[in-house]
Amino acid sequence: MSPSGHGAPGAWAPSHPPDRTGTNIPYNPGHFSRQNSILSIVDLDSGTTRPLWIDGVELPSVGTLQDSIVTDVCVVGAGIAGLTTAYLLSREGAKVVVIDDGPLCGGETGRTTAHLSNEIDDSYQELESLHGPEGAKLAAESHTAAIALIERIVQEEQIDCDFVRLDGYLFNSVDGDDAYIDKEFQAAWRAGLNPERLPHAPLPFPTGACLRFPNQGKFHILRYLRGVIAAIQRRGGELFTSTKAVDVCDGFPVQVRTEHGYTIEAGSVVITTNSPVNNLFVPHTKQMAYRTYVLGARVPQGSIQDALYWDTLDPYHYLRTQRLSGETGWELLIVGGEDHKTGQEDNPNAHFRALEEWTRERFTQIKDIAYRWSGQVLEPDDYLAFIGRNPGDQNIYIATGDSGMGMTHGTIAGMLINDLIRGRENPWAKLYDPSRKTLGALGEWTRENLNVAAQYVKWLSRGDAESPQAIAPGEGAVIREGGKPIACYREPDGRLHRYSAVCTHLGCIVSWNAAEKTWDCPCHGSRFAIDGHVLNGPAIAPLKSAEQDTKRAA
Ligand code: FES
Repeated sequence: MSPSGHGAPGAWAPSHPPDRTGTNIPYNPGHFSRQNSILSIVDLDSGTTRPLWIDGVELPSVGTLQDSIVTDVCVVGAGIAGLTTAYLLSREGAKVVVIDDGPLCGGETGRTTAHLSNEIDDSYQELESLHGPEGAKLAAESHTAAIALIERIVQEEQIDCDFVRLDGYLFNSVDGDDAYIDKEFQAAWRAGLNPERLPHAPLPFPTGACLRFPNQGKFHILRYLRGVIAAIQRRGGELFTSTKAVDVCDGFPVQVRTEHGYTIEAGSVVITTNSPVNNLFVPHTKQMAYRTYVLGARVPQGSIQDALYWDTLDPYHYLRTQRLSGETGWELLIVGGEDHKTGQEDNPNAHFRALEEWTRERFTQIKDIAYRWSGQVLEPDDYLAFIGRNPGDQNIYIATGDSGMGMTHGTIAGMLINDLIRGRENPWAKLYDPSRKTLGALGEWTRENLNVAAQYVKWLSRGDAESPQAIAPGEGAVIREGGKPIACYREPDGRLHRYSAVCTHLGCIVSWNAAEKTWDCPCHGSRFAIDGHVLNGPAIAPLKSAEQDTKRAA
């Protein structure tokens, strides 16, 4: 087990050796506006579709930072990784400030399916080959500890979030290769888990062999984080929304400059913005962005055995159920899958259709499809998140590369970064080190970076539409104007938005995402709204207006 945990709140120790950094920076809460206790409906700002977690959940309404401040730790990004980090540090007596450029929990955390699993979705067979038996063991231990920590926080903070322990089943299709299941069974046991091999999964359709992993978990992510936020605030932590970090400069203190010209000075800064916005290259060359699709189908309550399920296809399907508040006799079957590289698919809506077809074929009891949403997954080339000190920096930490296991990786980030800031040993530090180079992943790294290089060929293409007139209301397309790529979106009422289609990260051409009504970059997964503002990093700057871009070129 990690030495992380719930230390008693008390005197906050500096995060660095005293001979190097001196004493802790004073915290001055009087420098900024206090938060109020008004609740606000959750507002996801990373796309148009609406996940089920939003319905009926209110989060504290917090303000925008309105002055320069100093604090012990500044967390940039209010998703599960940032909030868990803030929570654990505040429990240890640190003064913590959390900022987010959007609303609380408005990014990819709110687009999860909230599986809590210690069975790695990329498999222990793969982990063993890349990180060795010891690495696989540490990975298993860390994900197990993450579920345990969530359970403990739920109990100690008395958070009403439907947390339950339950089995997880990894299953083959009827014609699947059982050798894969057998190898995974052995690798998972070597990693310290205790799966059971069964001939079939307890699902209402035929399956091949399966592994049952006991003691997994599921919860309602936004109800959980509502409780975590309240706990942070009770311990004096402050949260600010619509507060965008535009520059993070290492040192002691670290200086975070915000879009509105304020500065946050902190002993340590933790960047948990899904894709780190403080790095231009590393680690973006070591991970690839994917879109994943999710349905929420209304089914009779109890008609599906309560468990987590994952099949072995590539891309794989992942399933669980969720209680529906206010509806008796029905619950939601949540089904995800159909992953593809971000910005590299012409028809994202086809993936919703394929997922619905797959689901309806197997679950004939479906009454209707109540929810459809998509989310972004960052897949590291060696399948484990990057958590720890930012490469080249002393007091800046990052957490990225959720690898489709964002709930546990985000929680591991909280534990690990807490230990690193406190100067404590953590057995997982090397495994998750963002500076690591995994030799066995070199082939994957090369493939992915060749794929990125190939995306620049789009500069030579003719565009997706001949002219703005060819773009239907509610749709978008990249057109060419004097050879320049222009991202055009036509509002349902006919108005046209025109922006440069050149991604402000490293210059790839963005693609239209018809499912989310966003502009997605095929190179490193930056995403932009129809008004050009950034929804996902690594880009920081918005898309330029088409006119501005043309003028610059002239
Ligand atoms: Fe890197 Fe667009 S995200 S070029």
